[in-house]
Amino acid sequence: MTRGFFISFEGGEGAGKSTQIRRLGERLTARGLQVVLTREPGGSEGAEAIRDLALNGSVDRWSPLTESLLMYAARRDHIERRIQPALDQSQVVLCDRFADSTRAYQGAGGGVSTDFIDALEANIVQDCVPDLTLIFDMPVEEGLRRAASRGDYEARFESKGLEFHQRLRDGFLKIAADQPDRCLVINAAAGDVETVSALVWAAVEPRLPRHG
Ligand code: TMP
Repeated sequence: MTRGFFISFEGGEGAGKSTQIRRLGERLTARGLQVVLTREPGGSEGAEAIRDLALNGSVDRWSPLTESLLMYAARRDHIERRIQPALDQSQVVLCDRFADSTRAYQGAGGGVSTDFIDALEANIVQDCVPDLTLIFDMPVEEGLRRAASRGDYEARFESKGLEFHQRLRDGFLKIAADQPDRCLVINAAAGDVETVSALVWAAVEPRLPRHG
């Protein structure tokens, strides 16, 4: 591999992304690949500091537009310091959320214009676009129920109400429909962790770059 391979995991709340990222990471490591597990907002020291700012506090602490800027400030630092260096060393980067989350949460959910998000994405992500994006999809009520039972969720985003989360789900599905070469929808409500892991592996394995 010259450049590494970049996979982002996206979706609404409670879809089980984090568990699936860990499992995929173990599977790829067992194949002898060098794997970096990371997340957004966060993943670098500066971006984690911005995560604390963005995700803590009252629901209306930031407007959706300001949130977009915070997410993109964090993203730029993460790309420069963690993602791009890992890809340059031919590593596999598994990222829990990336640019599609801004388009879904702040755009579809929060009403920030597509033009503004397009401009941020073009200027800040540049060519550090994921090779593959898995969009974990499940009915909104089910996702929120699972997130609440987990008890470790960021209340600021998760207390926004059903309509917000429905717009979010529709937003992610629209991204998948608009960019079918990059995005695959995973039915996160298909069954237990093993069942969903099998769907993830079936999506990733044939797309991995071959050595030699
Ligand atoms: P997590 O719970 O998956 O770690 O994500 C943290 C929260 O941040 C989640 O509620 C989604 C939100 N978020 C955005 O609103 N915009 C973004 O661009 C990103 C990356 C996350």
